[in-house]
Amino acid sequence: MAKYLHSKYAGGDADVMKHACLASVLSKLDISVEYVETHAGAGLYDLDPDRGEHLKGIGRCRSNLTDLPALKPYNGVLEESWTLDKKIYPASPIIANSASAVKSLCLYELNRSVACQLKKNLPEAVVWEEDGFLSRHHLSHGSFVLIDPPYKSSDDYQQVVEYVGAAKQSQVRAVMVWFPMIYSDLTADLYDGLLGLYPDGQWLQLSRGLHSEGAMSGFGVFCSDSSLSSDWQLIVNHLVSSLFLQKVSYY
Ligand SMILES: C[S@@+](CC[C@H](N)C(=O)[O-])C[C@H]1O[C@@H](n2cnc3c(N)ncnc32)[C@H](O)[C@@H]1O
Repeated sequence: MAKYLHSKYAGGDADVMKHACLASVLSKLDISVEYVETHAGAGLYDLDPDRGEHLKGIGRCRSNLTDLPALKPYNGVLEESWTLDKKIYPASPIIANSASAVKSLCLYELNRSVACQLKKNLPEAVVWEEDGFLSRHHLSHGSFVLIDPPYKSSDDYQQVVEYVGAAKQSQVRAVMVWFPMIYSDLTADLYDGLLGLYPDGQWLQLSRGLHSEGAMSGFGVFCSDSSLSSDWQLIVNHLVSSLFLQKVSYY
């Protein structure tokens, strides 16, 4: 496994968009689900108030979050841990645990020390210290899956498409995928693969306006069921300017 520690990126612009979109999607579920996350991270991040990606993410938009009802599910979770004197950022497993439709959590995290932190932060979850892509072999009907690998290897893109294909076969309630924009051909392949499986799915792509070889010029999210992502447009329109992002595509 290539070394990837999410603590460096926690609360950055990509996390804010991913987590605001995830909280909104989960709040729209009409049935109880098992929540599966393939690459879960630590769940909570105690951030340095003076440095880190969060200064360009949650630090830029924190004060805007209360203005929009569509951001209520995300802001509600944040309010519990992110205060004036305490900067603890709640990430996807914590957001999922607070959603009323989520009845159980099954989380995969390959890095041993990160998995230990996750177990400590979320003792009620089942945490597997295994390759999260393998969970595609035992998905239950009606579950909800978030796929959020580090994309340190180009193989991750193909694995995501294969995973979503398996999830569709298992008749999961919905799948959400986060992806970076680094190489446009890999993003295009991912688009073709995911929309090929779920032609009515929602694809959202945002740019940071930077284009240098090998750097992440933007990122996006996909949801297999666009009825669950109906507030994404509102969320994006509300947050793009404070996060210095541009909307690239929304289908
Ligand atoms: C992008 S971070 C996850 C962030 C988290 N989903 C969130 O939004 O807060 C990716 C995580 O996957 C872990 N990881 C890397 N390869 C993995 C694998 N094959 N299976 C499970 N976890 C893996 C890394 O240690 C890292 O914590």
